[in-house]
Amino acid sequence: MRTGAKRKASDMKLLFITGNRHKFLEAESILKGCGVKIEHGSLSIPEERGEDCEAIAAAAARAAYRALKKPLFVEDSGLFIESLNGFPGAYSAWAFGKLGADGILKLMTGTVKRGAEFVTAIAYADEDGVRTFVGACKGTVAPMQRGSTGFAYDAIFVPEGQSKTFAEDPELKARVSHRRMALEKFAKWLEEKEKS
Ligand code: IMP
Repeated sequence: MRTGAKRKASDMKLLFITGNRHKFLEAESILKGCGVKIEHGSLSIPEERGEDCEAIAAAAARAAYRALKKPLFVEDSGLFIESLNGFPGAYSAWAFGKLGADGILKLMTGTVKRGAEFVTAIAYADEDGVRTFVGACKGTVAPMQRGSTGFAYDAIFVPEGQSKTFAEDPELKARVSHRRMALEKFAKWLEEKEKS
């Protein structure tokens, strides 16, 4: 028995506070590949308003840690469309609820410049404070919805250098997504932290 032995972080399940089941499943699968196990937690925290996913995630992690007093992480993400001056950005969840992916396509009718970027900010909080990890995936907005997997804007986003949308190719999404980029940075930092 490991009486008195300090539990290694890799033996523990890290708490991911999110109300989005898709985000959780993607994070679980990506982090598993990095040797990090997670568990799901729900907590209703009023979301800070703003245009910066990193600041929003940091505020949410701080509030969640204050409430739960346990190491945890949260994420805030969004789709930033160039021709719409970054809209819907940090308001992506709200815009999807109001307009859906088709509503966004309508706003872009006749737009040739279709560049966009998905951004994810992960914020981890523990007794030492908050650390953030940002990941991004550049691409374009497709002219119409294609594919049936994933969630929200997956059916209209084509990552750079590719022809399929995230919703048409979930393996592609798992390899190149904004979420993967942020989570890989986070996992690397956790690994370093455990070593020190
Ligand atoms: P929030 O991080 O809860 O503010 O919501 C982010 C919103 O951005 C989601 O509800 C989706 O509408 C959108 N979003 C973020 N990541 C993805 C993704 O991987 N695929 C499709 N839509 C996403």
